[in-house]
Amino acid sequence: MNTALELKEITKRFGATQVLRGVDLSIREGERHALIGPNGAGKSTLFDLIAGRTQPTSGRIALNGTDVTGMPAHRLGRKGLARSFQTTSVFTGLTVRDNVCCAVLGSGVTTWKDRWLRSSVIDEETHRVIAAIGLADHSDALATSLSYAELRALDLGLALATGASVLLLDEPTAGMNRAEAARALALIRETTQGKTLLIVEHDMEAVFALADRISVLVQGRVIATGTPAEIAANPAVRTAYLGEIP
Ligand SMILES: Nc1ncnc2c1ncn2[C@@H]1O[C@H](COP(=O)(O)OP(=O)(O)O)[C@@H](O)[C@H]1O
Ligand SMILES: [Mg+2]
Repeated sequence: MNTALELKEITKRFGATQVLRGVDLSIREGERHALIGPNGAGKSTLFDLIAGRTQPTSGRIALNGTDVTGMPAHRLGRKGLARSFQTTSVFTGLTVRDNVCCAVLGSGVTTWKDRWLRSSVIDEETHRVIAAIGLADHSDALATSLSYAELRALDLGLALATGASVLLLDEPTAGMNRAEAARALALIRETTQGKTLLIVEHDMEAVFALADRISVLVQGRVIATGTPAEIAANPAVRTAYLGEIP
């Protein structure tokens, strides 16, 4: 099986604070991989590094077998990696359709020729993404008029519209009630089929239902990687997550 994302001996220090202490992580192509760990473990810091927002202090990152350590976010985007933000990245003054269309235009799905010829490929791809995220009835609505859950769905849509094969989702259900979170996770499961997904999520039940494999980050180190069953049975993990593992 091919490896989509490979992290080797990643460390990250902010001044005197050592946040990541040698992270090894291997995400297989097409798997749904959850990263869990207590608050402050370094999950978002790790996502920032993978997404090219910040640089590791040391260590290497490979995307589909190519070393991408230190590569900025926009170049990683062209190599098929997309990140959905914990704080939403939607243009609030635009409609749902225009938001998605912008992402489609910036993606590898369309070429300069499509744009030049105003090809229907752009409209079709925009429509396909809007339907996939369940916002077909809201295409003409301004993003400001959407509910919080709809806004997060749109945010996911923007990541999908880039045509990325590797998606990073940091707490996609943060701030949602249980029903909204369940719907969002079902949406994520549907729309990420066949893609590689790395997700940070606090709801343990959701993580165990969604993930093929789980890695556990504690104090800047991965203390375990395995299937949900293996993680649930791991004594060190159970200690870190007393009472939360189903
Ligand atoms: N830019 C920064 N400067 C200094 N410390 C930071 C910075 N970003 C994160 N940290 C620290 O790194 C630790 C891990 O944070 P974070 O990656 O957000 O954890 P998580 O997402 O697992 O909750 C925290 O102690 C946080 O205060
Ligand atoms: Mg975080």
